Amino acid sequence: MNYQKIEVVSRWQSPSNIALVKYWGKKGLQIPCNPSISITLDKAISDTSMQAIYDENQNELSFDFYFEDTKNPSFEEKLKPFLIHAQSYFKWLQHYHVIIHSSNTFPHSSGIASSASAYSALALNLCTLHEAITGESLPHFFQTASYWARIGSGSACRSVYGGYNAWGESKSIAGSHDEYAVNIDTEVHPHFKNIMDSILIVEKGKKAVSSTMGHALLKQHPFAEKRYETAYQNIDLLMTILKSGDMSAFIQLVESEALMLHSLMMSSPTPFILMKPQTLQIIEKVIDYRNQTAVNVMFTLDAGANVHLLYPEMEKTNVQNFIANELVQHCENGLFYDNKIGTGPSLIV
Ligand code: DP6
Repeated sequence: MNYQKIEVVSRWQSPSNIALVKYWGKKGLQIPCNPSISITLDKAISDTSMQAIYDENQNELSFDFYFEDTKNPSFEEKLKPFLIHAQSYFKWLQHYHVIIHSSNTFPHSSGIASSASAYSALALNLCTLHEAITGESLPHFFQTASYWARIGSGSACRSVYGGYNAWGESKSIAGSHDEYAVNIDTEVHPHFKNIMDSILIVEKGKKAVSSTMGHALLKQHPFAEKRYETAYQNIDLLMTILKSGDMSAFIQLVESEALMLHSLMMSSPTPFILMKPQTLQIIEKVIDYRNQTAVNVMFTLDAGANVHLLYPEMEKTNVQNFIANELVQHCENGLFYDNKIGTGPSLIV
């Protein structure tokens, strides 16, 4: 192979996302047991650069990983299997020493899912370096990035695009695929275009059970098949709702998905609970507030204790007052992060 560049740098900023219909359960090589739909955030971002330096004597993977400018051997260990796998496609990797620098715009220990932003940024960088090093342009750049982001972390494949994205084959989503995500913004009613997500930090620390372990526990789960069937139905239903603009139906579905995810954890053969008392207190207050005021605000959860408050931007003043008066007292150190639906990753270099 005749490589075009001796030294090349790429830098992407890529956001996290929050699922509305959840991916929970996987098979084979990171294939989801059911489709999922998410919105990409605007501010929870990983900023990742990759410098690749050609070495004619090098014949195997060689890389350094720095997190916030400090070499991080434990992240290097986590990343290694991903990059080893990536060599099957990005063949130049075995002849280039790669120096990776990454940082997040949100605190690493905030409990905000960082694997989605981290792996989407890494996969985008691999694709950009690939084009520079080989001189070939990838015919489906973002699809390829989504494919490789998925290999790193399933939910990451939905972060390579802004707006609303679906991952996993489903009859109700044209072009949907188990191996990469597709953008579905054209299917989304204006009511859902300007959604905000205020992430209420209930617990900053590391979770007791990782998502990867949670997915594995589903294999023995007595309700697994029923969950997958329900998730497929919820995807069809959400697609109908997204097209129609029916906000009440949206709220009902989003909250039911969040609680189902956590009920699966609690009913697992090795049960575990990621919600905290404060999580439930916030959820109860959100439901009461909505019932009393008719403000369109809803909660969702990922695999942790933090609560994502979703609401249309037009409700911002009401919801910000509600957070300040009622919810911030349940947040660790009063922490919460305001996001809105984002436009997706950006190439910096
Ligand atoms: C509950 O993508 O973090 O947030 O593929 O093992 O890296 P791995 O898992 P991950 O799982 C995310 C689970 C979830 C739901 C979702 O984002 O769809």
